Amino acid sequence: MSIQWRESLAIGVEAIDNQHKELLLRFDRLLNACQAGQGIEELKKLLVFLGEYVHTHFNDEEALQRLHRYPEYETHRAEHLYFIEQLNILNSETEAEGVSTHHVIGTNNMLLKWLLNHISKSDKDLGDFIKSGTH
Ligand SMILES: [Fe+2]
Repeated sequence: MSIQWRESLAIGVEAIDNQHKELLLRFDRLLNACQAGQGIEELKKLLVFLGEYVHTHFNDEEALQRLHRYPEYETHRAEHLYFIEQLNILNSETEAEGVSTHHVIGTNNMLLKWLLNHISKSDKDLGDFIKSGTH
């Protein structure tokens, strides 16, 4: 399995699209590492990356929504907060127990759901709203 950026995921705001591309690249790297039996090592790197990423990326996206007075702001932000919550749980578990295979599988599932439900839908809706230009 491999994850690749595709143009249909673009929301049309370059900075945000680049951040999404970066996330998908990291996700793909985790999947490749899993196939090569290196999932645990890669997950450790990914968790460091995600810790930083969620703050910069979510802040940028939410600032953009405030700028455009996006009506779905609160719902969208709740999805971001849920992702951060899941990430916090993952971080505290791996800090307490060390990283193991079930964390790798859990992260794969978490990122796949994020891609399918959030980036492909909620972020796309935001892009469509901005493109409609009625605000
Ligand atoms: Fe988002």
